[in-house]
Amino acid sequence: MRVRNIKNKKEILDNSSYVIDNPLVYKGKWKDLFKNNNPIHLEIGTGKCNFIYEIARQNPNINFIGIERIDTVLAYGIKDLSNKPFLNNLYLMNYDALKIEDLFDKEIDTLYLNFSDPWPKARHEKRRLTNFRFLEKYDIIFLGDKKIVMKTDNSNLFEYSIVSLSNYGYKITDLSLDLHKKEDYNNIMTEYEEKFSKKGCKIYMLSAVKKDEK
Ligand SMILES: C[S@@+](CC[C@H](N)C(=O)[O-])C[C@H]1O[C@@H](n2cnc3c(N)ncnc32)[C@H](O)[C@@H]1O
Repeated sequence: MRVRNIKNKKEILDNSSYVIDNPLVYKGKWKDLFKNNNPIHLEIGTGKCNFIYEIARQNPNINFIGIERIDTVLAYGIKDLSNKPFLNNLYLMNYDALKIEDLFDKEIDTLYLNFSDPWPKARHEKRRLTNFRFLEKYDIIFLGDKKIVMKTDNSNLFEYSIVSLSNYGYKITDLSLDLHKKEDYNNIMTEYEEKFSKKGCKIYMLSAVKKDEK
């Protein structure tokens, strides 16, 4: 994602009650931070936070965490959130999911991957968030059954993800090749989804579950 720099991004991130600046200390203790035992849903690559804020607003009995590796992008999102009602079931952080196993220990119920970077070149395959290298890391963060919900406009990444998830033992439990035509789905649009669907692109969606082996 290419974005204009914001001069006071550090100030914006430091002053937001949503932003966790020392996330490693909460590994295994996220429930303490939320002060309840509600399930925790995670979004990797949360961008400017439209999706994570809205899904958290609609689901007060679920806790949400959004991870975004580019500080400027997160700062833009936080700036917008300051005009909206505060939610106590949402935390955000500037962090690279490459080290996701350092953040959570069997604590996550559902993982959202919305419009993840497609990394089309073969030599960048291992950077895709549905590459088996990431799927191995996700095994560590999930509590019980592993649930991934993915949306993208990119058919190559979508196909790749179906194969990668299936090879890793996930079962595809829901799938749409044109999500905006699907009637039984409470869709919450992301920034990229708005942009691409306005251009006429179809939005692909899948849900996948890997049963807990224990
Ligand atoms: C194409 S944008 C999509 C943003 C948003 N999810 C949406 O749908 O509008 C992908 C985002 O994922 C972030 N991202 C990519 N890899 C990441 C990683 N390893 N850890 C955290 N964020 C990542 C990027 O910085 C970028 O903001």
